[in-house]
Amino acid sequence: MVSDHNMSKSAKILFVGDVVGGLGKRTLLGLLPGLRERLAPDFVIVNGENAAGGIGITPRIAEQIFDAGVDVITLGNHTYRQREIYSYLDEQERILRPANFLRSQPGHGWCVVARDEVRLGVVSLSGNLFMDAGRPAFAEADAALYALRDQTDHVLVDMHAEATSEKIGMGWHLDGRVTAVVGTHTHVPTADARVLPSGTAYVTDVGMTGPRGGVLGVKREQAIEAMRTKMPVRFETSSEDPWLNAVLITTADQPLRAVAIEQILEPAPGIS
Ligand SMILES: [Fe+2]
Ligand SMILES: [Fe+2]
Repeated sequence: MVSDHNMSKSAKILFVGDVVGGLGKRTLLGLLPGLRERLAPDFVIVNGENAAGGIGITPRIAEQIFDAGVDVITLGNHTYRQREIYSYLDEQERILRPANFLRSQPGHGWCVVARDEVRLGVVSLSGNLFMDAGRPAFAEADAALYALRDQTDHVLVDMHAEATSEKIGMGWHLDGRVTAVVGTHTHVPTADARVLPSGTAYVTDVGMTGPRGGVLGVKREQAIEAMRTKMPVRFETSSEDPWLNAVLITTADQPLRAVAIEQILEPAPGIS
């Protein structure tokens, strides 16, 4: 007889890459109902670190994203750019800053959400290469999984990092130990989505949800001016060519394993 201890219902997880500015938020909110209909995700997770005008997130914006039925919001290096979010990060269970920030910094780095008898753990991590996280990502990943043991059927890790090497390393480090490792932060989707040999879905970068007509979300003339003149330039979010970048992960009916990861790259021509 097969013990049902090792079986869990298959689930689909939609993970949406960095939402940039008001246009990114409107793109997410505008496309999500259609994506729900077409893809039928059981869980929706969104990286919201650039949702407030390109830098950070406010409680009001987080609530708008949660009101759209999003289960968990993950963050990154821009977590603390808006002061009003600090106490919200401590109070709201389902918004995550990287787990390997200092313990003294506001917020927490993992949570568990459940639907139809499937318990999904979500962990936020920041890379250490070219990033300012106070503690090491690899050691904290192990600590997070230890803390989540026996509480979850599946675990998704958002590895918010600059270096492709560090993200790929984290994918291999966690292969067979979590359901998915998805990279964020660079705002550019990579063409390497796959299920690793021991069953972990992996992609180096999911991409961004926002204006592709700029430079990583910033108005292109301002970004070019900064690069051309080497002088400080005030950045605003571009309003051109919004897209939603995401991945859809299909879990196995066995815990902590995936069977598929598919890129979802959707233009949103009607949204401004
Ligand atoms: Fe970002
Ligand atoms: Fe970032």
